[in-house]
Amino acid sequence: MSKVTVVGAGNVGATCANVLAHKDVVNEVVLLDIKGDLARGKALDSWQQAPIDYYSTTITGTEDYADTANSDIVVITAGIPRRPGMSRDDLISTNAKIVTAVTKSILEHSKNPIIIVVSNPLDVMTFAAHKASGLDSSRVFGMAGILDTARYRAFLATALNVSPKDLQAVLMGGHGDTMVPLPRYTTVAGIPVTEMIDEETLSAIVERTKKGGGELVKLMGTSAWYAPGAAAAQMVESIVRDEKRIYPCCAHLSGQYGLKDIFLGVPVQLGKNGIERILELDLNDDEMALLNESAGHVTKVMEVFNGMNLL
Ligand code: NAI
Ligand code: 2OP
Repeated sequence: MSKVTVVGAGNVGATCANVLAHKDVVNEVVLLDIKGDLARGKALDSWQQAPIDYYSTTITGTEDYADTANSDIVVITAGIPRRPGMSRDDLISTNAKIVTAVTKSILEHSKNPIIIVVSNPLDVMTFAAHKASGLDSSRVFGMAGILDTARYRAFLATALNVSPKDLQAVLMGGHGDTMVPLPRYTTVAGIPVTEMIDEETLSAIVERTKKGGGELVKLMGTSAWYAPGAAAAQMVESIVRDEKRIYPCCAHLSGQYGLKDIFLGVPVQLGKNGIERILELDLNDDEMALLNESAGHVTKVMEVFNGMNLL
C-alpha cells in the first residue's frame, strides 16, 4: 500500500520508476520533474507498458509537489549528471541547491517519508537532504554501494566466467574514486574470491570498479542510468516489503568504524523503518586506512557544502 515519489524524470529517475513498477511492490509511483511534460510523458509511456509486462503499479508524472502528498518513500535523482572530464564533486554548486530545495518541498507535503538520495556528489547530497529534512538519520540515506558493488561483481563474473548471481561482495566508503571494494569479503557461491582469481587480476578489477562511473561517462558522454535506477528501486523494494536485506548504502555514522557526523557507504539492513541496523565489520588495518582516506575525501566536500550556507 505504498506511495513512492521519484524526483527527477531524467535517465536515472525514469529508470528507477520503471523498474519499480515492474516489481509491482508499490501501489503508486509519482514522477516529478521541473520539466512537467517530461515527467508526464515518461510516466504515461511506463503506464502503457503495464498491460504488456503485467504490473498494476500506477505511474503519473507532474511538476506539482501537491501530487506527492503522503509519500512513504521519496527517491531524489534531481540534478545535473557528470559530463566527460568532470568528477562527481564538480556537481556540488548546482546540485546542492537543487537537493536542498527539493527536500524542503517534499517535506511540505509528506510528514515522515523515507528519503533515498541518488544525486551527486552522493555522500554530501545525502548529508544535505538529511539536514534540510530534519528527519531521523535512519530515514535519509543514499544509493551508491549497490551500484558500485554491482559493477565489481559484474567485472568479476566476466573474468571468472561465472553467473553474476553467484557473486557476493561488500564495498564501503564514499561514492568516488576512493571507494573501498573489499576482496576479503567477496565470495563466489560461498568460495572466497581469492581462491579463484590471481592477485593481479583482482587488483585490476578493484581499480576498474573505483573508476566504473567514469568509464561509462567516457563511453556515453553522460553518466549511467540502468544499473543506478535499478539499484535505487532495489532499496525501495527492501523497505516496502520489509525484507531487511543487507546492502551497502550511504548512511549517517555516529561512531561506527570510529567515524562521526559523516554520511558514508557501509553495510546496512533495510526494512520498513529505513536503516534498521548498521553492520560493523572487523576491518583490518589496511582496510581501515582506505576507509579513513575515503572519509577524509568526503569530509572535504562536506566542508564545501557547509561553506555554501544553504541551510
Ligand atoms: P538527467 O539530467 O538525465 O536527469 C536529471 C533530471 O533532474 C532532469 O530531468 C532535470 O529536469 C531534473 N531536475 C533538475 N532540477 C530539478 C529540480 N529542482 N526539481 C525537479 N527536477 C529537477 O540526469 P541523470 O543521469 O538522471 O542523473 C541524475 C543525478 O543522479 C545526477 O546528479 C547524477 O550524477 C546522479 N547519479 C548518481 C548515481 C549514484 O550512484 N548515486 C548514479 C548515476 C547518477
Ligand atoms: C555513477 O557512478 C556518475 O555516480 C554516477 O555512474
